Amino acid sequence: MSVGDPSGWPVLRFLRLAVAMSFSVSAISTDDTKNHLLMKEKMMQLGGTLVLNPQEQQANEKLMAFKTAEMTEAMKTLIFPPSMHFFQAKHLIERSQVFNILRIMPKGAALHLHDFGIVSTDWLVKNVTYRPHCHICFTPRGTMQFRFARPTPPTPKARECSKWILLEDYRKQVPNATEFDESLLRSFTLVTQHPEVTYPTQNAVWSKFQIIFFTISGLVHYAPVFRDYVFRSMEEFWEDNVLFMEIRAMLQPVSPAGLPA
Ligand SMILES: *[C@@H]1O[C@H](CO)[C@@H](O)[C@H](O)[C@H]1NC(C)=O
Ligand SMILES: *[C@@H]1O[C@H](CO)[C@@H](O)[C@H](O)[C@H]1NC(C)=O
Repeated sequence: MSVGDPSGWPVLRFLRLAVAMSFSVSAISTDDTKNHLLMKEKMMQLGGTLVLNPQEQQANEKLMAFKTAEMTEAMKTLIFPPSMHFFQAKHLIERSQVFNILRIMPKGAALHLHDFGIVSTDWLVKNVTYRPHCHICFTPRGTMQFRFARPTPPTPKARECSKWILLEDYRKQVPNATEFDESLLRSFTLVTQHPEVTYPTQNAVWSKFQIIFFTISGLVHYAPVFRDYVFRSMEEFWEDNVLFMEIRAMLQPVSPAGLPA
């Protein structure tokens, strides 16, 4: 609705009234009005009308002291995690005292969690890929796929994947298993040192995101892993004191626990 429109006249009248009122208030004191407005706005924030008891006040003062100290430090070093790309800030955030206090404080809900992104990648590598009967194959694009099976599944079409190799055997033949595990970790996460170089476009990052989920799905869609995976996710969110999880899942079939002999 434009102000020129006849139906806009009431709006104009209201605006005039508002301007007149603000002039009369400014006669009292602009500062007082401003402070009053700011206070009113603060009270509209989440928890704005909450009254802290003396213990909570003390805890709040401590937390704010840590926060101020971290900000003062950042002004000296010019290293300020909130101003950085998350991948570069992550290790700094994990060292922050404020973060570590927030981490143990109770939280509401974690919403819109993708089913293949709810457990630490470390656990996937160290726990899941070390389980018996885990097979790996390499696609022509250089990505990996996984499958739990016994016996070894038939070789896929060449344009899809290499032959399936038992991961236990594969680890024995790589020159450095630690390095191999690190390469697995990298293939389970978007994190890279130079995200703006690795992902120059939205499509590039989206494509890697989908590849990761496809890679992880092969590990997770096996009943014994699936059960432990979901349980582990709850443990990890519990450790962060998250009280509610909303998981987005396609509920694709999970292969049963009893692998053929
Ligand atoms: C993997 O996780 C399961 C379930 O949490 C646990 O019972 C098992 O001991 C773990 N295995 C390894 C090798 O960490
Ligand atoms: C294997 O790789 C890890 C990580 O890159 C490295 O720290 C370690 O020294 C390597 N081990 C050998 C025997 O080369």
